Amino acid sequence: MTGRAAVLAGLGVYAPPKVVTNDDLAADLDTSDEWITTRTGIRERRVADADLATTDLATEAGARALKSAGVDQVDAVLLGTTTPDRICPASAPEVATRLGLTHAAACDVSAACTSFVYGLANGTGLIAAGIAERVLVIGAETIFRFMDPQDRTTSVLFGDGAGAAVLRAGRPDEPGALGPFDLGSDGSLADMLAVDAGGSRLWGPDIPREAHFLRMDGREVYRHAVQRMVASSQQVLDRLGWGIEDVDRLVGHQANARILEAVGQRLGVPAERCHINVGRYGNTSAASIPLALGDAELAAGQRVLLTAFGAGFTWGSTALVWPHIDVI
Ligand code: UT7
Repeated sequence: MTGRAAVLAGLGVYAPPKVVTNDDLAADLDTSDEWITTRTGIRERRVADADLATTDLATEAGARALKSAGVDQVDAVLLGTTTPDRICPASAPEVATRLGLTHAAACDVSAACTSFVYGLANGTGLIAAGIAERVLVIGAETIFRFMDPQDRTTSVLFGDGAGAAVLRAGRPDEPGALGPFDLGSDGSLADMLAVDAGGSRLWGPDIPREAHFLRMDGREVYRHAVQRMVASSQQVLDRLGWGIEDVDRLVGHQANARILEAVGQRLGVPAERCHINVGRYGNTSAASIPLALGDAELAAGQRVLLTAFGAGFTWGSTALVWPHIDVI
């Protein structure tokens, strides 16, 4: 491989301290720890206090990533999120300013749970095109508050958190080089996983209460998530010329342990190589891949496959050989 690559130079993660267990939710909702753990693998999730917004979590994770990479300036900040502080302006410029990134371009990347992988791809593009030398890619969400507390089909699934990566310009053959990427979308299925209010389609004072919350056709989303993550992962493997035995760790979007197990099984990746941390955090949407990378205890030299699926629908995958970095 020739040319200029984006290389992972640092990783930072942050989850708010408040833990909400399944039993906590079951106290006010017709559900149980047994149902949630059996169907999803989720045992607890982190929840941001009401005075914290997505930029607060993103700034903390971003600061940690910069420290991990040993840099204090980047050329661009890409914030992957489904739950920006406001519909206008984007949240990334505020994060950049709070991090002291005075010369950085900054914008949000909105691809729901695939946002972090899309952010990595966009960051890679900026670096490959020579537009940036360093890019800070963040995935951050305060998504728990977008769940209807009366809807047991969604409120038990999601949690808050943030993770961030610093990408730097480098060579395609060095550890940490990202790629290739497989990205895709299918907007015909947008209605299966959505928050209806707050955009230009449904705005104003007379909107029904439920429209402000996330709603989901769980079974259909499940089915598509497995199919898309398997096919997308396979694309990346084929383009790299990696066999399944070359994958040391599969780090997928953490929505449901059963989804990740099914993806691993269909690809042929043994269960012990599939990292699953959804039990601790629930589905943190754009934050889930960096949070999972943060506690996967990856060793330098391991070949890591990333894959994600989310509302839109959107999906994306990439791979890298894990570099020598200290996750903070
Ligand atoms: O990040 C974006 C991607 N999101 C996802 O990937 C989520 C994908 N979907 C899923 O993970 C699963 O479909 C769920 C976890 C949402 C649901 O699991 P399931 O095994 O597909 O259950 P189900 O929807 O088929 O529901 C089975 C039963 C239903 O009752 P009936 O109709 O069989 O009487 C539900 O009403 O479980 C009931 N149920 C619950 N029961 C207790 C649904 N939610 C709950 C709950 N507690 N929290």
